[in-house]
Amino acid sequence: MSFIPHFKSLNNEAHQPASYLQIVSIIRSSIEQGQLLSGEKLPSSRVMAKRFSVGRQTLLNALNELIAQGWILSRQRVGYFVAEQHPVSQRHQLPSPAQSTTMKWHFNDRCDTLFTEPEQEYQYNFVAGTPDINSFPFAEFKRHFAQVMNYPLPSDFSYGNAAGQPQLLSSMAGYLRRSRNITARPLLISNGSQDAIYMVSRLLLGIGDRVAVDQLGYQPAWSAFKESGAELVKIASDEQGLDPDELAKEFATKRIRLIYLTPQYQYPTTVTLSTERRNKIYQLAVKYGVPILEDDYDHEYHYQGQPLPPIASEDPAQLVIYIGTLSKILYPGVRIGFISAPPPVHQALLKLRQTMSHKNESMLQRALALWMIDGGFERHLRRSSQLYKKRLAHTDSTLRQIQQSNINDKLKLEYQLPAGGLGLWLRINVDCKQLASIARTQGILIQDQSCFSDTKIMSSGYLRLGFARQSENCQQAGIEKLLLIASNL
Ligand SMILES: Cc1ncc(COP(=O)(O)O)c(C=O)c1O
Repeated sequence: MSFIPHFKSLNNEAHQPASYLQIVSIIRSSIEQGQLLSGEKLPSSRVMAKRFSVGRQTLLNALNELIAQGWILSRQRVGYFVAEQHPVSQRHQLPSPAQSTTMKWHFNDRCDTLFTEPEQEYQYNFVAGTPDINSFPFAEFKRHFAQVMNYPLPSDFSYGNAAGQPQLLSSMAGYLRRSRNITARPLLISNGSQDAIYMVSRLLLGIGDRVAVDQLGYQPAWSAFKESGAELVKIASDEQGLDPDELAKEFATKRIRLIYLTPQYQYPTTVTLSTERRNKIYQLAVKYGVPILEDDYDHEYHYQGQPLPPIASEDPAQLVIYIGTLSKILYPGVRIGFISAPPPVHQALLKLRQTMSHKNESMLQRALALWMIDGGFERHLRRSSQLYKKRLAHTDSTLRQIQQSNINDKLKLEYQLPAGGLGLWLRINVDCKQLASIARTQGILIQDQSCFSDTKIMSSGYLRLGFARQSENCQQAGIEKLLLIASNL
């Protein structure tokens, strides 16, 4: 007689009747452990039902499941038998060594490995991509989130609204119209602006296409272009940013499919592209029928007069795709950005969004919309602009003091105060790549020029010094420590 354990003696202390799945599991492990052998005949279904203290139908359900999984087979009018080969063990039987190969994956992987801020805390953090989290009004924002959670809408739970949560779309459109004259263009809420850049790349670029970019730039955007198969054409720039004459030369010889710009504060050098240069670049784009992807990642922070309006605010040829982010206003983890695009591009992006992920998270978007409607968003912006303006001035005076002090008379610091944004582009007469790497071992996180290029830079002359996220005291102590390391190089 085959080994079929009494169900009660196994794991059913409450002496409940076994479910068919429990019987499947018991018989299967009896086979795996060798208590039931390949080819062995099982007791009749009547006997097994008795052993398991179940009705006949439950037992038959279990046997059918085991047959479906390949553990046993049934021979008509003869009975049930353990299969010759265990279904799992067949999978473990590898081909002979000659045939055997380890799996060779074929990835479409054209992405770069990107800088990600380490999880660990640094005593001093000068990475400029993050605002001061401590100044974010979490308690105020939480009230709106609680309201959304307490009163969810059916649309929060369902698919649909691929462009974004309707209240957020209309609040954001109003804000963009008031703050930077972006009007009469459909909007799409994205999962941060990286998602926006990725979607635009997928939509517009293919293998071998060329994208005109600055010589130093935002690596995640470059990686997205390359992921679509595109090549980068680096355009020479000077202290006024990307040079339109150089762009014109490239247009004359190469088929360029997209121009990627961060005109407000060029990333990473913070230079504002002049109106004259913007106009020239726009004219070239019109002449060659090439779209401009305008990444206005830091627009809200402006410390000298009024910011220049985005190129997208005056776009008669309808060729500018304008993107922005809330990463610098709330915090990078919030993953909300937007794309304001000409209608045909918007339509195509919507289809892409649906294909990628249907829609983005709705409740967070609605909480944000309520915060905007309540005026909290712009209140927070006003406060943080003032805070970061003060911090920039303090960073400037710290750098000046150090430069003038006798201790560091070997060091030469050169910088232009940025008109806005969260970072300062600082030239130091040492190898900044080496400086950044030593600083890291001493609790200071900072990016040097090599982080903004995809070619190997052996030594670099610049740092991008964030000035917004740390308190003034912390910023000052960090700069002093950093420059002390620099003066010993
Ligand atoms: C040039 C540039 N674009 C976009 C972003 C923002 O990206 P995201 O919205 O994906 O956080 C950043 C962030 O640092 C940036 O520097």
